[in-house]
Amino acid sequence: MNFSSCSNLLLVLFIVFLYLLHVSIGIDTITSSQFIKDPETLLSKDGSYAFGFFSPGNSINRYAGIWWNSRSTVIWVANRNQPINDSNGTITISEDGNLVVLNGQKQVIWSSNVSNIESNTTSQFSDHGNLVLLDSTTGNILWQSIQEPSDSLLPGMKLSINKRTGEKSKLRSWKSPSDPSVGSFSSSSVERQNILEVFIWNETQPYWRSGPWNGGVFTGIDTMTVAYFNGFQGGDDGEGNINIYFTIPNEEIFLIYKLNSQGKLEETSWNDEEKEVQVTWTSRKSECDVYGTCGAFASCSSLNTPICSCLKGFEPRSIQEWNRNNWTGGCVRRTSLKCETKSTKEDGFLKLKMVKVPDFASGIAETPDICRRLCLENCSCTAYSNDAGIGCMTWTGNLLDIQQLQMGGLDLYFRVAHAELDRGGNKTVIITTSVIIGTLIISICAYIMWRRTSNSSTKLWHSIKSTRKTNKKDFQLFNKGGTSDENNSDDVFGGLSEVRLQELLLFDFEKLATATNNFHLSNKLGQGGFGPVYKGKLQDGREIAVKRLSRASGQGLEEFMNEVVVLCKLQHRNLVRLLGCCIDGDEKMLMYEYMPNKSLDAFIFG
Ligand SMILES: *[C@@H]1O[C@H](CO)[C@@H](O)[C@H](O)[C@H]1NC(C)=O
Ligand SMILES: *[C@@H]1O[C@H](CO)[C@@H](O)[C@H](O)[C@H]1NC(C)=O
Ligand SMILES: *[C@@H]1O[C@H](CO)[C@@H](O)[C@H](O)[C@H]1NC(C)=O
Ligand SMILES: *[C@@H]1O[C@H](CO)[C@@H](O)[C@H](O)[C@H]1NC(C)=O
Ligand SMILES: *[C@@H]1O[C@H](CO)[C@@H](O)[C@H](O)[C@H]1NC(C)=O
Ligand SMILES: *[C@@H]1O[C@H](CO)[C@@H](O)[C@H](O)[C@H]1NC(C)=O
Ligand SMILES: *[C@@H]1O[C@H](CO)[C@@H](O)[C@H](O)[C@H]1NC(C)=O
Repeated sequence: MNFSSCSNLLLVLFIVFLYLLHVSIGIDTITSSQFIKDPETLLSKDGSYAFGFFSPGNSINRYAGIWWNSRSTVIWVANRNQPINDSNGTITISEDGNLVVLNGQKQVIWSSNVSNIESNTTSQFSDHGNLVLLDSTTGNILWQSIQEPSDSLLPGMKLSINKRTGEKSKLRSWKSPSDPSVGSFSSSSVERQNILEVFIWNETQPYWRSGPWNGGVFTGIDTMTVAYFNGFQGGDDGEGNINIYFTIPNEEIFLIYKLNSQGKLEETSWNDEEKEVQVTWTSRKSECDVYGTCGAFASCSSLNTPICSCLKGFEPRSIQEWNRNNWTGGCVRRTSLKCETKSTKEDGFLKLKMVKVPDFASGIAETPDICRRLCLENCSCTAYSNDAGIGCMTWTGNLLDIQQLQMGGLDLYFRVAHAELDRGGNKTVIITTSVIIGTLIISICAYIMWRRTSNSSTKLWHSIKSTRKTNKKDFQLFNKGGTSDENNSDDVFGGLSEVRLQELLLFDFEKLATATNNFHLSNKLGQGGFGPVYKGKLQDGREIAVKRLSRASGQGLEEFMNEVVVLCKLQHRNLVRLLGCCIDGDEKMLMYEYMPNKSLDAFIFG
């Protein structure tokens, strides 16, 4: 290589370098004298969020928006319905103090629209990609991007309902991955008869629902069995708003919920192990997640073929339609209820376990006994359900959008005529017999197991039991076992979880510290939503994964115990097996089986 071609190469490299420098140079504050010209960006302090111009998918239009790390994860768009068709767009603070987006002709195509700003303002990033407009003198927030949702629910962003005006904040889907303009799907919270829920709408039609919010979880989302996993909070804020939002404990974690252009709400997070953004949960896993797929008085289970089945005591309204897999007509009652006939025999209730309860519940703060009585006494009451966080829920008329879940959910008691209760008579005998035999076998196993396990695991069980006593209100899980008089199989389930808990080992802190080389960085497998996960090796050579819960997660002992109980109940083959736990002062840790070839399940990082 001679000198001149070498210097040419250097020159080219220098130009490329300058170009890259130009594009990536970011400022972290916009003031009135400053312009962000396409393709410059405003960067958050840690560099993970940027505000600037982008072109989505294969579009050539320019949009001002906020993205995380790579432009592929856009979390907020300003001029979503007014694209710029060239690269002459700018972002600045206008004379009236608002943050504005201008086109090449210097026309305002988007504004933060705050009226009567009196002092100078600046704009910069706050936490989790939230862009704020500040009063420069007082530092007060005048406007922030999380108050104006696009298609993404970000940490701290509220899906709110103004109780006075009924006005709601909504996520609105993009039209397509290349077009951020408002598409046909939206998501908002809904409050009816004291029940708060999140819905997805296709235009004005309900498309998906979360099931009632009980103060800790959405009862119709099977993966959200424990509040601790998701960090959702909600309810009345005392200032005239009802809000649903989620928080995550630290700034480094990227986790959002995105309503995509197909109408699916997707939990999207950064997987530190795979080094990519992944969808870790979606609102539509099967046809059963589509609102009302099975029509009235039917239940949907993705594990069955066909997926829809009439509730016991009901039959398809139109057997022809039903056999053609058109279930929307739903089912009708086979035997009329007492109030509708001259029957003297009292109606009764049949139970559906672990379901997303139907739409249009009414909530009242009553005990399970009174709930049942209120429903039985009122002819128009077709079902009831109890949840520790909500109280008593009752339904009148059609029962629509019932979904059988594999975990979580609530028990639903639906009304049938006395004759329908009898129909199951023989079955009841068989079930009762097998329950008794089952209980015996399990008790014997439990006894043997109990004799074999160490004192420490018994101690764990005692602490769980005392949690159960002291914390009645918090979670339905603890209240499920044995409170119902409908069916004694509940006791069997209660017994099962006791057995599983007996198998769990309570480890001491030193042992786990040794196994993980004092939680050494080189043993770190990844960062989960609530703390880091380490790989470790026990003295007997067994490999384990240890989730060390960050203190910032704010998780109390009850939530921790709840997680332990849930994981014990869910020894599903796709889930990581929980081996034990450790509670030592502030330190709370969970120990899982280590799976070398599989990425550790979303459950650990969940
Ligand atoms: C771009 O948009 C401006 C107005 O916003 C319009 O005057 C101009 O013709 C458009 N250019 C093209 C190439 O579409
Ligand atoms: C807009 O940018 C193009 C190049 O991208 C340039 O040719 C054109 O003159 C600019 N228009 C205005 C109004 O500045
Ligand atoms: C700003 O406010 C005006 C009138 O108050 C309204 O017409 C306009 O749509 C608003 N713009 C945005 C981006 O909200
Ligand atoms: C706003 O900033 C301008 C120039 O930066 C300055 O001249 C003016 O006094 C400021 N106004 C207020 C109310 O602080
Ligand atoms: C949304 O509703 C429209 C009609 O309003 C329908 O054509 C379309 O198929 C629906 N989309 C989905 C995904 O169900
Ligand atoms: C499904 O059945 C309902 C009535 O049960 C009917 O109105 C509808 O047209 C049917 N849909 C199709 C696609 O056949
Ligand atoms: C029965 O329930 C319906 C609907 O909740 C209610 O309107 C009605 O007043 C109740 N009837 C009695 C007798 O309580």
